[in-house]
Amino acid sequence: MSGVSIKSRDQIEQLRRACRLAAQTLQQAGALVRPGITTEEINTFVHEYTIEHGAVPAPLGYRGFPKSVCTSVNEVVCHGIPGPRALEEGDIINIDVTSILDGWHGDVSATFFVGDPSPETRRLVEITKKCLDLGIAEVKQGARLGDVGAAIQEYAESHGCSVVRDFVGHGIGRKFHEPPQVAHFGNRDRGLRLKKGMTFTIEPMINLGDWRLHTLEDGWTAVTNDAMLSAQFEHTVAVTDSGVEVLTRFDAPLPNSL
Ligand code: MF3
Ligand code: CO
Ligand code: CO
Repeated sequence: MSGVSIKSRDQIEQLRRACRLAAQTLQQAGALVRPGITTEEINTFVHEYTIEHGAVPAPLGYRGFPKSVCTSVNEVVCHGIPGPRALEEGDIINIDVTSILDGWHGDVSATFFVGDPSPETRRLVEITKKCLDLGIAEVKQGARLGDVGAAIQEYAESHGCSVVRDFVGHGIGRKFHEPPQVAHFGNRDRGLRLKKGMTFTIEPMINLGDWRLHTLEDGWTAVTNDAMLSAQFEHTVAVTDSGVEVLTRFDAPLPNSL
């Protein structure tokens, strides 16, 4: 018993609706990214947009998280708490949106460029996006979660980057986080065998330096130990008859991102 639930066609349709809203929200939030905007302003937008669309922002109050979206700038790996920090030219910011619509969770994130970051910074973001795409490309019935992790780890490490170990992707549905855990590292032909109707996130966090991190006094903000940059992209996916459906796909190019 792996505890991994299989969703029906109807359940996946409900999940798809939540995922579409999350993707739309992220798309609009990303358009706000520019030097001078604070992460608090991004939070306000995400909160209001979510409520206006009949949904609930999943982060708010989740295990005590105080805000409606995670905003993780530069050396922040994930779970950054929105606040008075103003974005600066050359920064990168991951915005991680999770919307609950009719009881179903859609989870999606992307890293955005603030102005015009350095070539090294852009390179990290490009590698991280490619890691997500390579992980998604492994998803099909009969494949194993180790194939997903291995594809991501091989690409990141062969480009001189490191893969965060402490946070992983997750099953998703009526619950924000459910089995299975989706590691972004590992070995091919190992781990859970994928079946039609499984739904989970893939959300690699890739660092320019070492993968080790620590959590700040606020209990949430995860930062790299070496203070070097970290980037992340996330999609919610479903295993289908023919392969994979990216439930949080965007209907237009993401602004200020890849
Ligand atoms: N959205 C994150 C994820 O991808 C989880 C954030 S938990 C929160 O799993 F409480 F910080 F919002
Ligand atoms: Co997630
Ligand atoms: Co997320």
